Amino acid sequence: MGKLISIASGKGGTGKTTVTSNLAIALGKLGKQVIAVDADLTMANLSLVMGLDDADVTIHDVLSGDANLDDAIYSLPNFDNVHLIPAAVDWEHVIKADPRGLPEIIKPLKEKFDYVLIDCPAGLQIDAMSAMLSGEEALMVTNPEISCIADTMKVGIVLKKAGLAVLGFVLNRYGRSINDIPPEIAEDTMEMPLLGIIPEDRAIREGTLEGIPVVLYKPDAEGAKAFMDLANEIVRISGVKSKVMY
Ligand SMILES: Nc1ncnc2c1ncn2[C@@H]1O[C@H](COP(=O)(O)OP(=O)(O)OP(=O)(O)O)[C@@H](O)[C@H]1O
Ligand SMILES: [Mg+2]
Repeated sequence: MGKLISIASGKGGTGKTTVTSNLAIALGKLGKQVIAVDADLTMANLSLVMGLDDADVTIHDVLSGDANLDDAIYSLPNFDNVHLIPAAVDWEHVIKADPRGLPEIIKPLKEKFDYVLIDCPAGLQIDAMSAMLSGEEALMVTNPEISCIADTMKVGIVLKKAGLAVLGFVLNRYGRSINDIPPEIAEDTMEMPLLGIIPEDRAIREGTLEGIPVVLYKPDAEGAKAFMDLANEIVRISGVKSKVMY
């Protein structure tokens, strides 16, 4: 049975979509069968970041009952073992789709894939909660700033209460400012394991613009290596915590 991992944060723009796309490809490189799901129903951009630009059927069509799940699953030929469920960006589709249907659609994917990575919206609103509760485990993403850490902690606490196994957090964009909170202080404050430090890296932003996540775009970049390390860490710990919890 595969792992269902929600990629979540308190504030927007911390790097959830960047983590989802790179982790998906990094896990694919490790030989795992992966599907990345765009569960950010109002501000979708995972397919843009992963270079899929001609998707007719999206998760919105599945939620509104206009399509079957299988028709919304795309394989990405350039990314070994990696699949994607895109989301629509036009308002007509957005208003027809009820986010509360997400768990029912996403959870069964664990029967077909080793890893189901769920790119969630930020915060604790109903659309974010529905996306996050589609997972059984959570990977939190924060930047090294105090308000960002505080908000991501809040979301982590809510997810734990809701029964998810919070695996830990990723400290993203480290090294951008001399005022960055150091990793060990971030880990003490977050009260959950630090699973990876992704440096501020221009190659990551360039990859985003090209629609090729950095682990493929520039595998030798520091950011790419950090994502490969994170993937190895996820393989090591995912599934263990939830086995102890349930
Ligand atoms: N480590 C990094 N170094 C440089 N740029 C980064 C890094 N991480 C993310 N970015 C850039 O920051 C921007 C925001 O990242 P991303 O879209 O992944 O955030 P998000 O949390 O998904 O945002 P939202 O909450 O709006 O969905 C993107 O342009 C991305 O390329
Ligand atoms: Mg995003």
